[in-house]
Amino acid sequence: MSQLKIIVAPDPRLKRNANPVVNVDSVVQKLMDDMLETMYMANGIGLAAPQVGILDRVIVIDIANKKGGEKPCPILMANPEIIGIADEDDTHEEGCLSFPSYFANVSRPKWIHVRYVDQKNRRQELRAEGLTAVCLQHEMDHLDGILFIDYLSSLKRNMSIRKLVKFKRKNVHA
Ligand code: NI
Repeated sequence: MSQLKIIVAPDPRLKRNANPVVNVDSVVQKLMDDMLETMYMANGIGLAAPQVGILDRVIVIDIANKKGGEKPCPILMANPEIIGIADEDDTHEEGCLSFPSYFANVSRPKWIHVRYVDQKNRRQELRAEGLTAVCLQHEMDHLDGILFIDYLSSLKRNMSIRKLVKFKRKNVHA
C-alpha cells in the first residue's frame, strides 16, 4: 500500500464530476487500499478519490473510534448511489481532509439507503444512519464536485476559503 497526497482546497480538481468505475479490478482495489491508508494516516473518517486527484467514483469511510479502542470497520465503495432517503434532516458538525482545521454544521437527511459495488466487485446495499449517513453523504458529494462549505452561507464560505488560502501560503508544500 502507498500513501497518496490529499488535495487541499481551494483547488479546481475538487470541483469536478468523477466518472463511474466500469469494473472493480486490481487497479481500483489498490486505489481503495491506498485511499484507506491515506485516510487513516490523516486521522480522517472518510475520503473520496477526487481528493487524491483521481476522478473515479470511489469512496472509503471508517467511523470506528480507533483511539477509543474500537476495531477498524472500513467500508469501501465504488459507484455509490442513493436509492432511499429520509424526509427529516439532522445537523452534525463536519470536517474534511481537504479543509484542514475547519469545521462547520451541515444539515443532511437523517438516513440514506445506498447501492454500491464493493472491493470484490459485488453489488451491495447499505442503509446508513447517524455518523455513517453523514460521512457517506459528505463523501458522495465529493464525487459530484460538491464540498461541505457549499452548504454554508456565502459569508461563512468566504471566511473558510480565506483561511485556507492563508494556510496554503504558510504551508508551501501542503
Ligand atoms: Ni471531505
